Order: sequence, then C-alpha cells, then structure tokens
Amino acid sequence: MIVPNFVTVFVVRLRMTAGGLAALYQIPMAVLSAKGSGLMEKFASAFQEPLTQRRGFRLARAFLPNSPVIPKRFIKSYPNTGTALVTRHDDVIEVLDRNADFEVVYEPKMRAITGGENFFLGMQDTALYARDVSNMRLAVRRDDVAAIVEPLARGLAEKLVAGKAGRIDVPPELSLPVPTAIVTDYFGVTGAPESDLMEWATLMFRYLFADIEGDPALEREALGAAAACRSVIDAAIAKRKASGETKDDVLGRCLVMQAAGLPGMDDLGIRNNLIGLVIGAIPTISKGAVQALDQLLERPEAFASAEQSAHDGNDTLFAAHVFEALRFNPINPIIFRRAARVTKIAAGSFRARKIPKDTMVLASNLSAMFDPLKIESPESFRTDRPWGDYILWGYGLHGCFGAYINRAVLPAILKPLFTKPGLRRAAGTAGQIDTGGTQFPKHFVVEWE
Ligand code: HEM
Repeated sequence: MIVPNFVTVFVVRLRMTAGGLAALYQIPMAVLSAKGSGLMEKFASAFQEPLTQRRGFRLARAFLPNSPVIPKRFIKSYPNTGTALVTRHDDVIEVLDRNADFEVVYEPKMRAITGGENFFLGMQDTALYARDVSNMRLAVRRDDVAAIVEPLARGLAEKLVAGKAGRIDVPPELSLPVPTAIVTDYFGVTGAPESDLMEWATLMFRYLFADIEGDPALEREALGAAAACRSVIDAAIAKRKASGETKDDVLGRCLVMQAAGLPGMDDLGIRNNLIGLVIGAIPTISKGAVQALDQLLERPEAFASAEQSAHDGNDTLFAAHVFEALRFNPINPIIFRRAARVTKIAAGSFRARKIPKDTMVLASNLSAMFDPLKIESPESFRTDRPWGDYILWGYGLHGCFGAYINRAVLPAILKPLFTKPGLRRAAGTAGQIDTGGTQFPKHFVVEWE
C-alpha cells in the first residue's frame, strides 16, 4: 500500500509541476494572440478567457500557491490594504471556513442597496445572521424545489424553447425569464415589468460583487435600481396585506411569520430579505446556464453525451454534464474575504503565508476545482465526480442560499435545448457570449434544425 501511494503522490506532483511549466509558455502565447492594442489590453483580454484563467491558476498552484501579499488594492470597491491570492483546494476551503478570520466585506454596499439595513450575506457569523437565514429558510423550503420551483422552471423553459423556430437568443429569451418567473411567481415579488426586474437585479449584483474598480457610474445606476426595486417590494407587501390574499409563496409565508410576531419579519425586514434573494437569483442563474451551455458547445464529445442523456430522459446524467461544464467556467472564479486580524493560511506547511489585517484574500474556487492534489483528473470532463468536488456557488457559512434551487433549475433551463436536433452556436459573433462589457451575458444565440 505504501509504495503505490508514494508513487501516486509523486506522479501527481510531477504532473502538477509539468502543468505549471507548460503554463509558463501557454500564458504568454495567449496574451500575444489576444485582442487589444497595448500589452496591458492584450493581457486583460487574454485573462477574460476561462482557459487562460485556468492556466494562470495552474502556474500558481504549482509554484506559488499562496501569493505573497501584494501592497496593492485590486478590489477597489471595498476597503482593504493589499491583496493575496489563494489557489490550492485545501487553502481555499480554509479561508472560506474561517469566518472569524476572513470576513465578508459586503456590508456597506448591502446597506446602500436596502436603504439602511444589512442583508445576511453582508453579515458576520452573528445572532442577526442566524435569525435572518433561519427565517428565510422557513419561507424558502427545500421541498419547494421539487414541488414548485423545478416544475415552474421546466415548464417555462419548455414553453419558451417550443415557441422558437430554430433559433434563440439565450439570455433575453430563456435564461433570464426563467429565474425572473421564480422571483415573481414563487417569491411573490410582483408589480414590475419582468425586464425591469432583470435589469435591476443585474445592476445591483454587478455593484455588489463584480465592481472591482468602484465605478461611480455603476454605483449611481445600481442605487437607482435598488430604490425602484425597494418601492416595488413595498407595494407588493402592501397590496398583499390590503387584499387579505393568503397565497402560499415566499412573501405569503413571510407575512404569516410576521403575524406570528417573529423577530425580523416586519415589513422592512421582509423587504430587505426579498431584495437580497432577487439579486441572488436572476443574474446568477442566467450566467450559469449560459456559461455551462457555452462550455458544452466547446466540447463535442461531452456535448453529444449531454444530448444523449437529454433524449434518454436521464435527468441526473444530464445535470451532471451541466455542473461539470460549469466547473470549467463558474460564474465567479474567486470569492473575496478580508482578513479581520493578522493571521496565517496553511500554517505548518511549506506554503504557509502570513496575512496582515485588512488584506483582501482572493480565494479561487475555480483553481480549487482544478487542484490535482484534491480532484481526480481535473482537466478531464467527467460526469461521475462526487458533488463535494464542486465549488460552483460558494462554500461554508455563506455558501449559496439557493444551492438546491440552482441544482434543479440550471438543468431545467438547458434541457429543452438539448432535445432539439442539431443544436449549435449561431454563426459568427452571434454564437459567442456577448456581455456588452458587463461580465453578464446579454446575448448568445444558438440554433437547431
Ligand atoms: C447558478 C446560480 C447561483 C450562483 C452561481 C450563486 C453563487 C453564489 C455564491 C458564490 C455565493 C457566496 C458568496 C460569498 O461567499 O461571498 C452565494 C451566496 C448566496 N446566494 Fe447564490 N448563487 C446562485 C443562485 C442563487 C439563488 C437562486 C438565490 C436565491 C434563492 C441565491 C441567493 C444567495 C444568498 C442569499 C447568498 C448568501 C448566503 C449566506 O450569506 O448565507 N443565489 N451565491
């Protein structure tokens, strides 16, 4: 036993080093052949590509898994004094597990969005956090996924695809309408045009999680969207109460809890929680569906096998294709946390790194999912991976509140496309993801016979 183990460990480490060395050549090549005029532009454009990101992380994992703390603020939208990158699976999990040492940073922007209060993703591990998550878990129940959410998503996705004659622009015509219907029909946030909900949620999401530069124009737009969204939720609450309607949706259950006197469930508390869920649900599900589809279209063998599983009605296998595809380009390659005190990552190992207080720690979930020390044959597309190999929507205390919804809804959105004969990208740029510079898919056209 000892000898085979030793050999395996040696081979895995050797491959890791070889992969890192290959990346040393592949990355400059990708930068040189990328779009853009100057070197910086080419560099930025090369690293938009998930393949280049993965190669960058491969290099880091092999030779510098926990970067030295760089005295530069890469994330300018939240206070911090410097940046550290963490790439190995064990260390990414360690950062996301140690909530007291590595804190979520979103509080100031959450308060700006809600118009005063914090939302639980912006909270540390406090009594208030436990109260709000517990309340919302009573309103958004796990067994709703099979009973309400999945049938709603499946039915709508089938209808939207059936209404198209061989061509669909996925974000506006499929992947955004489905989560928006979850927000209106299941959460109970009604009263705004669907297109407004999609736009507001995407703006607020970008402001909270994707605004690396702290763009004042985006802030203005996002806060405008937040004010509009707050008014719509206020009106939905008032209308429901005035009508006396007792609907069994998320809003209806929140009002039942309010009537029972549960702390945190006054009108304002309900609004704060609902706005967080609206932001969490719409742009994420859409981006995840589009990126999984794009990755499957990149891989003819995996694509054919996904198509076969959809035709066979093997939903578990089809879903496994979707999540494996998303591993190659998850909606966020990193999750950021700020060091609450001077501390160490990977203490007791050769890669131990001292982290000064207020350092922004970029824990790369994308890199962790490709770490050969943890993930078997990470570069292969496989549909038999244990679920624990995936870090597609966070990990630990703040792991995604909608995790079970995502597991049901992403495949439900994509399956009707995969039952169409000859599914393919549209020719030219229409068949490539177009984010319009926002990091969120606006257009992506696919066709079938
Ligand atoms: C594919 C779709 C989704 C992806 C990729 C995604 C991604 C994530 C990630 C990465 C986090 C952790 C953030 C961090 O630790 O800093 C998170 C947390 C969260 N997500 Fe999602 N999400 C998705 C769908 C949803 C949906 C449908 C909802 C609403 C039902 C939702 C609501 C939330 C909330 C409320 C949190 C905070 C949880 C907490 O603080 O305990 N997300 N999500």
